[in-house]
Amino acid sequence: MYHSPFLIEDQLVVVPVPQILAGDTVFRDYAIATMEPNSVPYGLIGGGMLIVRAGRILWVGPEPCGWRSEVKVEQFFGDGRLLTPGWIDCHTHLIFAGDRSGEFAQRLSGVTYADIARKGGGILSTVRATRMVNEEELYESARMRAESRLRQGVTTLEIKSGYGLDLPNEQKMLRVARRLAETMPLTIVATVLAAHTVPPEFAGRGDDYVTHVCEDMLPAVSHLADAVDVFCETIAFSLDQSRRILEAGHARGLRLKIHAEQLSLSGGAAMAARLGAVSADHLEYLDESGVKAMAQHGTTAVLLPGAYYFLQETHVPPIELLRKHQVPIALASDFNPGSSPLHSHQLVLNLACLLFRMTPEEALAGVTRNAARALGLGDQVGTLRPGKWADLAEWDAHSPAELSYPIAAQLCRCVFRRGVCVHAVSV
Ligand code: NIG
Ligand code: FE
Repeated sequence: MYHSPFLIEDQLVVVPVPQILAGDTVFRDYAIATMEPNSVPYGLIGGGMLIVRAGRILWVGPEPCGWRSEVKVEQFFGDGRLLTPGWIDCHTHLIFAGDRSGEFAQRLSGVTYADIARKGGGILSTVRATRMVNEEELYESARMRAESRLRQGVTTLEIKSGYGLDLPNEQKMLRVARRLAETMPLTIVATVLAAHTVPPEFAGRGDDYVTHVCEDMLPAVSHLADAVDVFCETIAFSLDQSRRILEAGHARGLRLKIHAEQLSLSGGAAMAARLGAVSADHLEYLDESGVKAMAQHGTTAVLLPGAYYFLQETHVPPIELLRKHQVPIALASDFNPGSSPLHSHQLVLNLACLLFRMTPEEALAGVTRNAARALGLGDQVGTLRPGKWADLAEWDAHSPAELSYPIAAQLCRCVFRRGVCVHAVSV
């Protein structure tokens, strides 16, 4: 009998290879990093086989010696190459217009990110540029950025609004996110970040803007979004203002996320965790009480090494405390024009290892299993186990540690969404 050994809730479940039906797809001869949290590093299965039925994983395990399909089905042969879950970029701001290269030059001469923001630049300069372009242009630039992520093995992409900051422009951004979901072979999670900063129309009236977001904007955009986010920071929204935003989003049925403890400690992560947030993101200045609150409420930590690097931050997120309290750590690009214009998704892993001292296994879990949790999609994607979507990436690599090691390499060879090949490099 051929078997697939699986640990489900710590129980070893052994399932024989099922009978193949017409329409199934079979992946053979792969090193499969399932990323299931079992006793084997990376949940790795050598000489692995994976069977897809109706877009979902039906079976995964070591290929039995002499196995052959009795019916004619589509088969992919890996020649020992690595197969992982499709990557999940769980924090991006990839819909925007303009660029901030001028501010980059200013920062190199000593001006800080916070100084630039206080003088009306930073996020607000991208708001000005984004308000000026029409929806079609915004869609086209975002499509190219999403396409680039897809070619790098990303099959699920979170995208935030937050460069509109008024109802028409926030709606414009969220409609672009929805259109990407309809036109691209990607799962898109749209997050409304109307509370990214106070727009010029409300200058000096942050509380009034928060009221406007809670009472007018969130009700009008919640059908376009899956989650709500807020930038809780001295240069953006206070702890109380952030709480109001999250409570209003919760009342509209949105998942909760927060940008917290990026430049200073505000207590935002703990507050959001208590409200049931799926993730708290950035976290350079997070303290142990915040870590404990996140552990207690099942909130995932999303670390953004691109922003840490690009802002030349020196305060490393509390990795040891997150490990100690078993808070799942996700990684994301934070792709945006101001703090993380990071185009290479593989570099996210490499930076996390070198700057945050994460292990290559933690880094890969960060863009798969834990990134899925950070979006509330942990039961759908993020690991390769029967029942989940067959979102897969095939790599020009034979072991998973190879993914974190090169600097900004592009090792992705094929991308499969729901078992269908949606990108392949020509070899
Ligand atoms: O995640 N921290 C706030 N928001 C973004 C930066 C956005 C920008 O600078 O345009 C971030 O780093
Ligand atoms: Fe961000």
